[in-house]
Amino acid sequence: MLKIQSSKTLEKLPPYLFTRINALKKQAYEKKLDVIDLGMGNPDLPTPSHIVDRLCDTIKHHKNTHRYPQAKGMPKYRKTISDWMLKRFGVHIEPENEILALIGSKEGIAHLCMAYLNIGDYALVCDPAYPVHFNGVLLAGAKTYSMPLLEKNNFLPDFSKIPSKIAQKSKIMFLNYPNNPTAAVVDDNKFWLESIKFCKKNNILLVSDNAYSELTFGDYIAPSIFEFPGAKDIALEFHSFSKTFNMAGWRLGWVCGAQKLIQPLEKFKSFLDYGAPTFMQLAGVAALQGSNLCVKELAQVYERRMKKMSLGLQKLGWKAPQTKGTMYLWTGFPDFMKKEGSFSLCEKLLKETGVALSPGIGFGKYGEGYARISLVTHDRRFHDALLRIEKFTKEAKSE
Ligand SMILES: Cc1ncc(COP(=O)(O)O)c(C=O)c1O
Repeated sequence: MLKIQSSKTLEKLPPYLFTRINALKKQAYEKKLDVIDLGMGNPDLPTPSHIVDRLCDTIKHHKNTHRYPQAKGMPKYRKTISDWMLKRFGVHIEPENEILALIGSKEGIAHLCMAYLNIGDYALVCDPAYPVHFNGVLLAGAKTYSMPLLEKNNFLPDFSKIPSKIAQKSKIMFLNYPNNPTAAVVDDNKFWLESIKFCKKNNILLVSDNAYSELTFGDYIAPSIFEFPGAKDIALEFHSFSKTFNMAGWRLGWVCGAQKLIQPLEKFKSFLDYGAPTFMQLAGVAALQGSNLCVKELAQVYERRMKKMSLGLQKLGWKAPQTKGTMYLWTGFPDFMKKEGSFSLCEKLLKETGVALSPGIGFGKYGEGYARISLVTHDRRFHDALLRIEKFTKEAKSE
């Protein structure tokens, strides 16, 4: 037997969803297909110029920032986040010991799993979910218990369906609203109170992944979990610059919450990395201290795109209800197509039309029957994508 091979834990994981989609896209490009890429949630618009300017200026004129950073985040970064959390959500987060800088929230979430979970522990994960919520658990050698997100429940988990034996064995619960991939939001604060109560009762770390808190539409405003009583005792909240400020490639985020809950992640990371680069942290400071106008405008762009695609798809018989936030549309395939399966449908759509979507199954078993559309291209291209999907749908119907 070959000794030099990947670990059993890694082997158990399927190839990362976007690695598979990227391979299909590569084939399409090689065939000179005009690809409209609505697969990955990779913002198409540039980072606002005041943030870029701050980065350039810092790198050029502040040579100290080229050195190793302060792993937990420089004091100015943590103070700015604390001020922003107060202004935005009205919650007090101690800058000194309740904030940890991250190299993007994906990094933080994956490492949190390793910092907390033992082999055989359970984590409660929504299905469908942003893949690192379940893959992080599996990489830590632990087990996931799926909380189905069903349309009839507005894509919220039903805590009463979790067997008490599983709840007792579970150490972490992941929640993410506004949600990727379903684009659902929490309309009724009772849900947050219930989740806190459930986690307290069962002694579970509640992880709120709030990557899309700023990308909401109309008068919907997403809360922080810390707005609700008792959350500080059991919850951590992850934030990201990636989507709010079109900084996905910059790799910057933070986690906040009580010191005793952050501490295991801080310790774990101290053996692995040196934290987010100082010049990035200062760019993050510029982002959070700057005017909120660019964020509002960005949300309006996504809202406009969402409406265009939702209306267009519904006319074709796809189920794509309008959303109140995120940069995604979660669309059900027309019933006559569903039996083929979402991966095969998305593969065919890409091969035949050049439109790349993310198959729902890639986000979990309850994602089957759906596809996620990332709203990350110019308005004109959405029109083209709709024309191609129309042709694809008509052909599938006539088969
Ligand atoms: C729900 C959710 N959490 C976290 C992330 C990762 O964000 P970051 O770029 O900060 O690692 C994403 C990215 O798509 C996401 O959708």
